[in-house]
Amino acid sequence: MNDIYNFSAGPACLSEKALNGAKDVLLNYQSSGISLLEMSHRSPQVVNLFEETTINLKNLLNVPDNYQVLWLQGGASLQFSMVPMNLLPDSGSADYIDTGVWSAKAISECEKIGNVNVVGSSRDSNYTYIPKNIINNNRSSYLHITSNNTIYGTQYKAYPEVNNENSFLVADMSSDILSGPINISDFGLIYAGAQKNMGPAGVTLVIIRSDLVENKYRNIPTMMRYETHALKDSMFNTPPVFSVCVVNETLKWIKELGGLEKMEKINIEKSNLLYNEIERNSLFTSPVNKEDRSTMNIPFVFSDTNIIDQIFLDFCDNRGLKTLRGHRSVGGFRASIYNAMPISGVNALIEAMKEFEKNFS
Ligand SMILES: Cc1ncc(COP(=O)(O)O)c(C=O)c1O
Repeated sequence: MNDIYNFSAGPACLSEKALNGAKDVLLNYQSSGISLLEMSHRSPQVVNLFEETTINLKNLLNVPDNYQVLWLQGGASLQFSMVPMNLLPDSGSADYIDTGVWSAKAISECEKIGNVNVVGSSRDSNYTYIPKNIINNNRSSYLHITSNNTIYGTQYKAYPEVNNENSFLVADMSSDILSGPINISDFGLIYAGAQKNMGPAGVTLVIIRSDLVENKYRNIPTMMRYETHALKDSMFNTPPVFSVCVVNETLKWIKELGGLEKMEKINIEKSNLLYNEIERNSLFTSPVNKEDRSTMNIPFVFSDTNIIDQIFLDFCDNRGLKTLRGHRSVGGFRASIYNAMPISGVNALIEAMKEFEKNFS
């Protein structure tokens, strides 16, 4: 039987180390005789777990002292609302770059709160590229980007700059957080759902510059305020303890592997292998602009539209290569090769593509 490789876009494959760590805490957490799932979030063990996870994240990403790390619920989707509720002044405006479904959802939530300027969009080409040379408005409070576009397989290689000293960059990094080092100081706020590169669904990471934490602009519900969660170390209400624990196991795994520089090297190597095969193979092609291609999500389609996608999906499925169907708005195939996808999984997919080509010609 072949090894099984899960190319799902999210929830996505996790490292064996993180899964084993998660298994160990289920029955008897740190020799307490109690499962982590049963433990009060006020217990010293769980308070320690949150502190340790925050420290591990700060160390890996080199988070400066003037930033706070929050572990929230509601997914990245709740951040689409929390960001403008907390950071957009009543009569102000925010700039957004539209790079696909997820940024469009962020735009639509912001429009419920205030004024949005869409300062760049790649909608004209079904989001196959990252819009460049963005000029953000002088009076806008922030510029929002989606750093990696999970559905279309585009990724920023250089982030846009804000041209006004009171403005700042906000990034949805749900599908490429921890894929390599980033300069946190370039951002006012970063958010990311855990379920692609960090852990299971249920927890959302927010990294926020301390001066942005205070609730300044409107009377919003308690749970929607960053301030509420910052003042209580992400324990204002019952937090997703188990999800945070698995995130911590993932952070320890990345550290052991050599940190984010090493992770980035591996991701570039893995994605290059697959892109090279897509280029070489006469049956497949990539719809994505070369310089904007993601190291995390790799869509590809048949060059000949007469071949039925399902035939290749079944062919892969029989070889243990799972969840390769592309998103319905792009079609074809998508290999999500997040941090936890081993190079052997990428090589197994490449082998399948080669064999399929041989059978077909
Ligand atoms: C880039 C991006 N942003 C936001 C989301 C939505 O995340 P959530 O389900 O955590 O709300 C996703 C989900 O796939 C995503 O890929």
